Order: sequence, then structure tokens, then C-alpha cells
Amino acid sequence: STGQAARPLPVGERLRGEISFRNVDFAYGDETALHDVDLTLRAGQTVAFVGETGAGKSTLVKLVARFYDPTSGRVTVDGTDLRELDLAQYRHRLGVVPQEAYLFAGTIRDAIAYGRPEASDAEVEAAARAVGAHDMIASLDGGYLHEVAERGRNLSAGQRQLIALARAELVDPDILLLDEATAALDLASEAQVTHATERLAGRRTTLVVAHRLTTAARADRVVVMDQGRVAEDGTHTDLLALNGKYARLWRTFLGETLPEDAGTDARDGGPEAVGARAV
Ligand SMILES: Nc1ncnc2c1ncn2[C@@H]1O[C@H](COP(=O)(O)OP(=O)(O)O)[C@@H](O)[C@H]1O
Ligand SMILES: [Mg+2]
Repeated sequence: STGQAARPLPVGERLRGEISFRNVDFAYGDETALHDVDLTLRAGQTVAFVGETGAGKSTLVKLVARFYDPTSGRVTVDGTDLRELDLAQYRHRLGVVPQEAYLFAGTIRDAIAYGRPEASDAEVEAAARAVGAHDMIASLDGGYLHEVAERGRNLSAGQRQLIALARAELVDPDILLLDEATAALDLASEAQVTHATERLAGRRTTLVVAHRLTTAARADRVVVMDQGRVAEDGTHTDLLALNGKYARLWRTFLGETLPEDAGTDARDGGPEAVGARAV
């Protein structure tokens, strides 16, 4: 505890959503997960975090959700240390889309309204339309009253993700935390989920743990994590030009997904990185 009283957020007032990590270290017991992370995310920016398994991406996002507090250093939102904010009020301003959203047995409507059970049917539908999930829902037997089985196992991975994104939209958060599902989606679902993610990220500050590099390529900024540290930081284009870790990941991705010759964009990047920083 910081010994300070939790600061209530002004009622009805929104966060601007500027997030700073200041010399943040974090360890799970003896296991260091983040080391000396220093980053400022501008209000409204969509930032994709990429890197190998265990690099610290999810931990970084969990610190913003205040599931944990830093071992040293601080995380601030709009300049205020998260430890000084009233936790319940702060969490109300967050949209969290976990890797596998848990869907309880119930209707699609209830699954979307999970964070705001008092929402009207019209509000639920508006949220679904806003992320482009309405047509998928309308195609289900019973539409919004379609019965979801426990864990959503009668839905496809893509359908579950669209519902999770509509659920986040309904909360209308100021800050969006998204851990992309690793499950492979068919091409049509992939396009729908990408589109829904973009709509949801909109102008709100968004941290997305990107397992699909197409998400990173569309983000305003990409942060490459490596063994708990920020290794590279810049736009997709900057990082291709930097020709480091991100460029390698991208070339691998293109090699896996596209026939030969389609990767020329990545290979055109020269060494003259402009806005990127390798750390
Ligand atoms: N709950 C936990 N308890 C102990 N160690 C953890 C826990 N969660 C993550 N770690 C460790 O912290 C490091 C960072 O993990 P994580 O943030 O999940 O990485 P990423 O999301 O990039 O795969 C890894 O070494 C991982 O093993
Ligand atoms: Mg992770």
C-alpha cells in the first residue's frame, strides 16, 4: 500500500487515457517478468505488443488492469499513479478482452450484457452492430436469444471473439486491454474479428497483445518485448526499416502465410529507421 487514500474519479468524467510505465520492474516471486520498462502511450493510441512467449506482454497489460502492482517503478494514467485511484471506479473505465473470454451458459444477449446487465436490448444490439457482430448473431438460430452452451462450446472461436468484443463495446471503456486469442480462425472470421477489433480500438487508448502480426501492422505503434524488456518501439513501417527483431518476425509471418514474392514490402525496408528505437 502507498499509504495514500484512494482518489475517487470524478463522477461521469472520462479518463483521457494517457498511460505511462516509469522504470517498471515486475517479478512473480523470484521470476522476473518485466525489467526497467519505460513507455508512454498517448491518449487514443493503439499499441500492439509483440514478442515471444514469456516476453512479458501479458504481464504489462495486467499491470494496467491493476491485477498486479509493479515491484518497483510506477504505472500512471493521466499522470496519476494507479495505486492512488479508486480501483473499482478505475476498472469501470476499462474494457478487458482476455485471450479466451469466458461465456457462461445463457443467451447471446446476456453474454454481451455481462458487464452491464441493466443494458436494454437496443443497447446490446447497438454494441453488436458497432463492432460488426450483428449479422453473425442474426444468422444464429434465435438471434440474440440463441442459447450459448457453457464456455460457448457451441460457437466457433471467431464467434466467441466477436461476442467478447461486443461485450467490451457495450461498456464503452476509456482504455481497452486486449489479449488476442491464439486460436487460428478461418479467413472469414479472421477478417470479421480484425474489423471488430479496429472499430472497438477506435480513438480510445488500446493495448493489444498481438498474436496476429496483421494486428500489429494496423496499430499506431508496435512495441517488441524481449525477456521482460522493451526491445523495439515504433510504427510497423519504422520497425521494418530498423530491420531487427520485428522485421524478422514479419518476414517469417509473410513466409508462412503468403506465396513467394509477396514479401517484397518487408524486404524493401532499408537500415535507415526514422522513428523507431531499438533498445
Ligand atoms: N502467474 C505467474 N506466476 C509466475 N510466473 C509467471 C506468471 N505469469 C507469467 N509468468 C512468467 O513471467 C514471464 C512473462 O510472462 P507473460 O507476461 O505471460 O509473457 P507473454 O505474455 O509475453 O507470453 C514468463 O517468464 C512467465 O513464465
Ligand atoms: Mg501472453
